Amino acid sequence: MKVMVTGGAGYIGSVATEMLVESGYDVVVFDNLFQGHRAAVHPGATFILGDLADKAQIDAAFEAHPDIEAVMHFAAYSLVGESMQNPFKYLDCNVTNALRLLESMDEHDVRKFILSSTANLFDDPETIPITEKERIVPGSPYGESKAIIERFLHWLDKTGKIKYCALRYFNAAGASETRGEDHHPETHLIPLVLQVALGQRDRLKIFGDDYDTPDGTCVRDYIHIKDLAQAHILALNDLDKGSRKYNLGNGAGYSVKQVIEAARQITGHPIPADVVDRRPGDPATLIAGSETIRKELGWEPKYPSIEAIVETAWNWHKNHPNGYGDK
Ligand code: UFG
Repeated sequence: MKVMVTGGAGYIGSVATEMLVESGYDVVVFDNLFQGHRAAVHPGATFILGDLADKAQIDAAFEAHPDIEAVMHFAAYSLVGESMQNPFKYLDCNVTNALRLLESMDEHDVRKFILSSTANLFDDPETIPITEKERIVPGSPYGESKAIIERFLHWLDKTGKIKYCALRYFNAAGASETRGEDHHPETHLIPLVLQVALGQRDRLKIFGDDYDTPDGTCVRDYIHIKDLAQAHILALNDLDKGSRKYNLGNGAGYSVKQVIEAARQITGHPIPADVVDRRPGDPATLIAGSETIRKELGWEPKYPSIEAIVETAWNWHKNHPNGYGDK
């Protein structure tokens, strides 16, 4: 099957591309390289430098590859804090770009769609672990942008235009053997911790230790990037049975302090850290209830422990101290 991967040069999209190519899929990566890295694109994929802001470029990609049957849509902005500063960026890029893509898919008779959605749909959840039954209360313009797309997909399904699966990721982390996390600027906990271990940063900031959690720091559900990518492939292969939404995480929460401690063990570096003020918008605890995808698709994480996740990230960062070296 031929699959278009938008954002296939980015952190999650590049690993999904790697796993798709290695599982025998024909992959067309469509990416504007604003955030992604050309070197992150698997050499077995066809690369199109294209921008979802320009519908003619999307149309041209489908016309050049009329056998594309499905789209995995990763290309988006994904920082909660940034979206609070600049909500229009998120509305414009995340929402309108996705709608242009979906319209072009319809015009070119491409009917399968996998959406990168987010745990930021669930601000202040009533029940933890957070299952698909939790009501949707986006925590930021970023979360709202994904909620809008999910709602619109519901109608595209009802009108027979698209079959879709929305995967609400919790905290994507870790690396494959060859692809890892290289954001500019970096804001995510695990790569920042590892930058301290590499001597690229003196100390880490812990954003608040007065949360209602066992050690006072925020608890997150870290899911390995390859487990995440595998979920996309399973979801794609099951789409004929109907559209659905899955919450996707390991179901185990680790605090910021636990992540730092795991990194100390793995790297042998003391990783000095200072507690500073809370970061606005951070909920205390986000843990996924992923029973539905386990049951329906047989998805099983291969890297459930924080140690395994941090270790793969550490291996990548040690081998790529300057990331892909292009930014
Ligand atoms: N943190 C620190 N110090 C840092 C960086 C992060 O203490 O220097 C803390 C944060 O406050 C948070 C935790 O580490 O409690 C994880 O923060 P990240 O920035 O790594 O990830 P987020 O939980 O903010 O967000 C990520 C994705 C979002 C997604 C969300 C879903 O970036 O796109 O997970 O859970 F919506």
